[in-house]
Amino acid sequence: MNLQDILFSQGFGTRRVCAGLVQQGWVSVEGVVVTDTLAEFDTANLTFTVQGVQWPFRERAYLMLHKPAGYECSQKPGMYPSIYTLLPSPLRMRGGGAAAGVQAVGRLDQDTTGLLLLSDDGKFIHRMSSPRHHVPKLYEVTTKHPLDGAQVARLLAGVVLDDSPVPVKAAAASVLSSHVLHLTLTEGKYHQVKRMLAAVGNRVEALHRASVGGLRLGPDLPSGQWRWLSADETAALYAGSAT
Ligand code: URA
Repeated sequence: MNLQDILFSQGFGTRRVCAGLVQQGWVSVEGVVVTDTLAEFDTANLTFTVQGVQWPFRERAYLMLHKPAGYECSQKPGMYPSIYTLLPSPLRMRGGGAAAGVQAVGRLDQDTTGLLLLSDDGKFIHRMSSPRHHVPKLYEVTTKHPLDGAQVARLLAGVVLDDSPVPVKAAAASVLSSHVLHLTLTEGKYHQVKRMLAAVGNRVEALHRASVGGLRLGPDLPSGQWRWLSADETAALYAGSAT
């Protein structure tokens, strides 16, 4: 693929902008500045540098963000900044067109922290977010009132939420301390954890998503930071959500 098309596909702007970046000497490949927009490169394992920042070529983008509190998972937020402002602009512009850039896989509430997957692969997003695939999501829930066995039993047996004809169950629940619970859900209904805890007479004080589909948010990714998923991590997420 030629260098102008490489930059365009990776979200560095219109073809004209990409050509300008190359011609002005802002782009290097393997440490060498390339000013020929039509120079051809094999994109397998390609890394390039634009204005001093190194980028891997990715046919499709798969990443995780450690979502901080106080951000909305919407492109057009109402009250708080958007999580998309935490990403560099090429990730938000990949692919061009109206529906450009990576999209969040499902949503977390403004005050929820933790693991959020993002991708520009529509099949992956659907696979991870469709209730049909039962992708487990592990939440660490801090509650206002002490937890007891009866509450946990009800969460596991199923509670009635107003938008669901059938009771909604947690796939797993374990009490870590008097006010902290690990809850695994395989659906992603609106405010689901908060509404389930309210249905058993408790209240969520803080909510953190620790893992999705078995992929954990490691301690190495600080709040507000993102990283690429490895090919193995992406494959494992696909495999884990296989029907
Ligand atoms: N359940 C909630 O109530 N909020 C979230 O952000 C995620 C799951």
